[in-house]
Amino acid sequence: MKGVVLAGGLATRLRPLTWVTNKHLLPIYNKPMIYYPLEAMARAGIKDVLLTSSSDHSGHFESLLKTGENFGLRMYFAIQKNPKGGIPEAIYLAKDFAKDDNLMVILGDNIFNFNLKKTISEFNKEKKGAIVFGVKIPTQSKQYGVIEIDNSGKVISIEEKPDNPKSDIAQTGVYMYDKRVFSFIKNLKPSARGELEVTDLNNQYLKEGTLKCQLIDWWIDAGTSFDELLRANNLVAEKVKNGELQ
Ligand code: G1P
Repeated sequence: MKGVVLAGGLATRLRPLTWVTNKHLLPIYNKPMIYYPLEAMARAGIKDVLLTSSSDHSGHFESLLKTGENFGLRMYFAIQKNPKGGIPEAIYLAKDFAKDDNLMVILGDNIFNFNLKKTISEFNKEKKGAIVFGVKIPTQSKQYGVIEIDNSGKVISIEEKPDNPKSDIAQTGVYMYDKRVFSFIKNLKPSARGELEVTDLNNQYLKEGTLKCQLIDWWIDAGTSFDELLRANNLVAEKVKNGELQ
């Protein structure tokens, strides 16, 4: 399993903080935001991680993260030319890097402490498929994809930011894919907002019957708004002080 961390985009919702600085370099209490997904990769036992970002900021990440050895990782960097291409377009940059390995994808602004190791070893035993990580939160805010599951945990539907959410499970920015992910991405067409959507990608696995959902306990997408950025700072500060996080 190899890792991809996505740190591109324009982060318009966090301007003026992000006019010059990449969103994923903003502080979350005692660390830059990007440390959290990278530490999640390291905790999971992943060694090789590709970070995708824009040409304006790629050098900043290389200065900060260097070879990745401080995290126990080997870091690689790729540039997403079109910042509005969407998540699948950024994942596609990992095609040569991934070769025939499975991929763990984490959005660079996702903060969580779940250990992905067990799920990875179970996933690596499967011949094909994908896993989407979900979290129970009020999904009325229309900021997230929404995952509907049945009593046995089987995924019934995933909808991107629906008007009438069918469940209280938000789709996080944490995904595992088999090596066929790149051919599934090739099938995608831009959505109404002009981007390739990760929900459309996941729905191809759902249609095939190979998509699973794993729930995690707490998670924040720190990049959605000033309030979520503040909430992430406060929550992480609290967890560092009570010893749950470093
Ligand atoms: C993306 C996905 C959405 C998911 C969210 C999690 O949204 O499209 O389904 O719930 O990440 O962070 P975006 O933040 O790109 O609007």
